[in-house]
Amino acid sequence: MGKLFSHQQGAPLSNMVTIIGPSGSGKSTIADAFGFIADCLDRGVEEACDMNNRGGFRQLVSQGSDGVIRFELYYRETDDAKPITYELSIALDENNRPYVMDERLSQRVGKTGWPQSFLNLHEGVGYAFEGTDGWQDEDGTVTGQGRKVDVKLADRRKLAVSTYGAMAQYDRIVDFMHFLRSWYLCYFTPDAARQMQFAAPQEHLNTTGSNLNNVAQYMYRDNPKAFAQILKEIQTKLPGIEKIEPKNMENGQMVLKFLEKGFDEPFYSQHMSDGTLKLFAYYLLLHEQSPRQLVFIEEPENGLYHQYLTELAREMRSNVGNGFSKQLFVTTHSPFFVNALAPEDVWVLSKGEDGFSGIKRAADYDMDLEISERQFREGQGRDAWRALADVRDTYGLGRCDYDLLVRQVKELQDAEPFYVALMANMAALLWEALPDINWAGFYVRRGRESDLVLGPFQGKMACIRIPLSKGVCGTAAAEDRIVRVEDVHAFPGHIACDSASQSEIVLPIHQNGEVAAVLDIDSPSLARFSAEDEAGLAKMVRQLEAAIVF
Ligand code: SME
Repeated sequence: MGKLFSHQQGAPLSNMVTIIGPSGSGKSTIADAFGFIADCLDRGVEEACDMNNRGGFRQLVSQGSDGVIRFELYYRETDDAKPITYELSIALDENNRPYVMDERLSQRVGKTGWPQSFLNLHEGVGYAFEGTDGWQDEDGTVTGQGRKVDVKLADRRKLAVSTYGAMAQYDRIVDFMHFLRSWYLCYFTPDAARQMQFAAPQEHLNTTGSNLNNVAQYMYRDNPKAFAQILKEIQTKLPGIEKIEPKNMENGQMVLKFLEKGFDEPFYSQHMSDGTLKLFAYYLLLHEQSPRQLVFIEEPENGLYHQYLTELAREMRSNVGNGFSKQLFVTTHSPFFVNALAPEDVWVLSKGEDGFSGIKRAADYDMDLEISERQFREGQGRDAWRALADVRDTYGLGRCDYDLLVRQVKELQDAEPFYVALMANMAALLWEALPDINWAGFYVRRGRESDLVLGPFQGKMACIRIPLSKGVCGTAAAEDRIVRVEDVHAFPGHIACDSASQSEIVLPIHQNGEVAAVLDIDSPSLARFSAEDEAGLAKMVRQLEAAIVF
C-alpha cells in the first residue's frame, strides 16, 4: 500500500482537500485508505485486506514497519464539539490471519485535557461506555455518568465500532458509526449509470452512480419545484444540452429526458455520452440535500473534457462545507481542476528516496523554491520539484497562451520577414509573455560549418560566440534537437552567461532543412520549462521558420 509519513503538527484540513503528485506517489493509496476502513466496517478486517486487489495484509503493511497497520482518525462532529480520536491497529494472529489488535475511541475532556476513552479494546477485550458522557483515563480513573460495560468480542476480525455502533444505548459509538457510514467514495462509471434501474427512489447516489435515476426520482418526489430548479441549473453546465426533464413512466418509474441542441427527439440517460452522464452525476451529487460527512473522488477528470473541470471544481468548492458534503477529498492530475482552487486546498504528494511519501500544502511551498534547491541537486526531491512545477503551471505562474503567441509571430512576419527585425520582436514578445525567465534570444549560424553568433535578445549581455556542440545551444544546434535542461549546473559544458540561470530550453530553427539558428530561453528557477512550454515554443519556432529571410 505504500508508505506515508504522518503529519501531526499540521494545520487542520480545509473543507476541500485536493491531492496532486506524480504517478506512483501514493494518491490512490490515500483514496484506498478510506475505502479500506469502509470495507473493514462492512466485511471485517480479514476480508478488507483481500478486497479490491489489495493483495492481503502483507501487501498493505508498510515495509520496514513493526508489522502492524495503524489508523488514527481525528475529527470533530461539529465546530463546537470536542474532537474525537479513533485508533485502530490490525495485526496478524498466530495463524497469520489479520485481526483487530487494538481499537479505541477517545476524547480530551475535563480539566487535565488528557485523552480519555469511551471505547477501548485490546485483543478483543475491554470496555465501552453507554450514554453521552463517561470516560476512563489511562490510570483507570472513571469520570462522567455513563455506565461502563465490560465487553468481549466473539469475532476478533470484526470492528467493535460496528457491533456497539448498532446499539442505541452507546450513543457516541452510534454517532461515530453514522460518521463513518456517511463517507462516500465515488467511483462513477457511465456504464453503471446507464443500466435500467428498477428500484424505488433513493436518497443518495451509490458509489458507481448506478442509481442515478432513482436519486433523481427521490429529489423529484421530495420537492418537484426544487428539482426542476436543480435540473435547470445543471443543464447550463452540460455541453450541448438544452433541457433536462423528468418523465414519468407508466410503471411508476421516472427517467430523465435530455434534449440536445439540434435534435428534435430527446435522449434518455441510457443513451447519453459517457462524459455528459458523468458530469451530470457529479452535479447531481452536488445537489443532494442531506450532506455527507466526507466525499472522496479519485481523478474526476477521467473521461471528461478538460474545459469542464475548472467549472466543476469551482462548483465543488463553493458547495462543500454546508452543501452536499462537509469535506471533500479529490485526487487529480488535471491542472484545469486545480486552477479553480486556492493554494490552501491543494496538497502535493511526493515519494522520497526511502519509499515513504510526504505531503505538503501547495500554499506552504515558497514559490521561489529556494529551500529545496540543495535537495534537488543531491538527487532527492526531484519528484516534488516536478509536482511543484505543475503547481506553478496551474497557478498561471508558468503558463502562457502559446496559440496567441504563434498568431503574434505570424503578424510580425507579415509585417517584416527580415530575421533581425523578426527575431528582435520575437525576443521582446517572449520576454513579456513568459514569467520567470532571465534571458530570451537567438544565436545565429553564419555559414554551414560556423559557430553560433549572438543574435537579437532580451536580458543581460551574453557570450558572443558559441562553438557547435558546446553548451546547451551548441548541443541543440549540432544534434538538431530541442534540449530542455532542468538544472543547468548538471549539464556538462553548460556556458554560464548569467549566473542566475538555473534551467534552460534551446530549440533549433531551420532553413532549407539545415539548422540556421537557435532560440534560447533561460530561467532563474530550476525545472522552469514544462513539456507544455516545449510544445508551445516549438509551435512558435515552426511559425518563425515558415517565413524568415536571413
Ligand atoms: N547557456 C547557454 C549559453 C547562452 S546564454 O545562456 C544566453 C549554453 O550553455 O549554450
